[in-house]
Amino acid sequence: MQTAGMSPKTSLAVVILAAGEGKRMKSSTPKVLQPLMGKPMLLRLLPTVFSLNPKQVIVVVGHGGDQVREAIANSAYSERVSFVEQTEQLGTGHAVLVTKEAIASDGGQPSSVLVLYGDNPLITAETLGNLVDGQVSCAATVLTVIPADRKGYGRIARSADGSLLKIVEEKDASPDELEITEVNAGSYCFDASLLFENLEKLTPKNVQGEYYLTDVAELLIEQGNKVQPVQAGSEYETMGIDSKDKLATANAYLRDQINLGLMRDGVLMLDPATCWIEPEVRIDADATILPGTMLHGECVIAAAATIGPSVVMRDSRVGPGATVQFAVVRDSTIGPNATVGPFSSLREGSVIGDTGKIGSFVETKKTVIGANSKIPHLSYFGDATLGDNVNIGAGSITCNYDGKRKHKTLIDNDVFVGSDTMLVAPVHLGAGSKTGAGSVVTRDIDAGSLVVGAPAKQLRKPAGTQGE
Ligand code: UD1
Repeated sequence: MQTAGMSPKTSLAVVILAAGEGKRMKSSTPKVLQPLMGKPMLLRLLPTVFSLNPKQVIVVVGHGGDQVREAIANSAYSERVSFVEQTEQLGTGHAVLVTKEAIASDGGQPSSVLVLYGDNPLITAETLGNLVDGQVSCAATVLTVIPADRKGYGRIARSADGSLLKIVEEKDASPDELEITEVNAGSYCFDASLLFENLEKLTPKNVQGEYYLTDVAELLIEQGNKVQPVQAGSEYETMGIDSKDKLATANAYLRDQINLGLMRDGVLMLDPATCWIEPEVRIDADATILPGTMLHGECVIAAAATIGPSVVMRDSRVGPGATVQFAVVRDSTIGPNATVGPFSSLREGSVIGDTGKIGSFVETKKTVIGANSKIPHLSYFGDATLGDNVNIGAGSITCNYDGKRKHKTLIDNDVFVGSDTMLVAPVHLGAGSKTGAGSVVTRDIDAGSLVVGAPAKQLRKPAGTQGE
């Protein structure tokens, strides 16, 4: 028997196959970029891959290759992943063969090559570790699973000692072989030299006329090497997400896994099936998440905060004891014990101070609101800074845009803005000042003073008219 010459393991290259067209997705977005809990599925796979500390990670691209390259270039993996183009999709064996030069060029050949599919992002680090570790004592390991529905999968025929006898593609299988319940999940770890030696020997001698990677396993066995099947922890791990319905199943699976973890860590959830919380979100024990909540990106929710019902939040922080309901919140910070909603829109750069309040039909943008300050009803505040204990009457607005530029509104501590006040920026309201209902404030107001009225005088006359 030829030995794999593998022990101790020195280095690992990972090849991710992502050149296929993904026809069943019926989308102009490549299959591996379809969103899984808010990120392209390939970007959900990469952290698992990098947890193995590989020497090299190569993505084989073809259909939609430019989009795949761009997605990686805009991610944290831009410097750590390289690409090889497979211009014609001649089969999984061919897809690995095209990486041969790229693999050898990076400081010599690695000892092992792990081959994964870009549309299998639910695979766990533990399972990948089992594949890689198992290969130390044989020529290759093959990931297998016993799925509920084995349609389309290559069947795993085992020898009496449990090692692999052969993998038979469904289209090439006999009726007996079709009855085998264990199937090839499509992930492998190979001894690098044996892999490339045998890839050169592949022929498209099958029903599909393709170069099958699975035939390498067969060649290895013929040469007296051992190939060991390694079973996956669950069927989800091996799920090829190649259609929108499988994408929905995968998203729901991840959602449930994430919510289960959160609840085990002490987060209270009334109806987890309706809460979509991305894996990057951090929630402290004793926070409550109510139905219909979507938390995207890097949200941080403190203990005793209540989020929901019906909140969509992205990249925002919520302090302890705060409540947010029926609201859309993006790139914002909500302080301890503050309340937001119902029907509030906090856009980028909104900062709500301790016990602050943003109420119904209020929109804020790049606005910092001090402790205990309130904008309770029907207002727009943009490019504004409010001190502490400020009260904004219903229907008040910062007129921050003159058609060309944005201007700032500064409101000091203890100001009372009467209902329906228009604050024409740039403008500054001194501490303790007041505006009467319906005021249009075009000039700075001194501390402690009261202004009223609407100076809507005609400033410009239409061309060719006498005017008043
Ligand atoms: C393959 C396996 C089968 C296994 C199944 C698990 C082979 C011959 N068969 O079949 O035993 O049960 O996976 O899902 O390997 N790809 C490329 N370039 C190509 C061809 C494919 O990058 O030229 C990529 C595809 O984008 C896809 C993956 O490889 O992500 C699998 O290819 P596909 O043709 O779908 O293989 P299966 O027929 O599913």
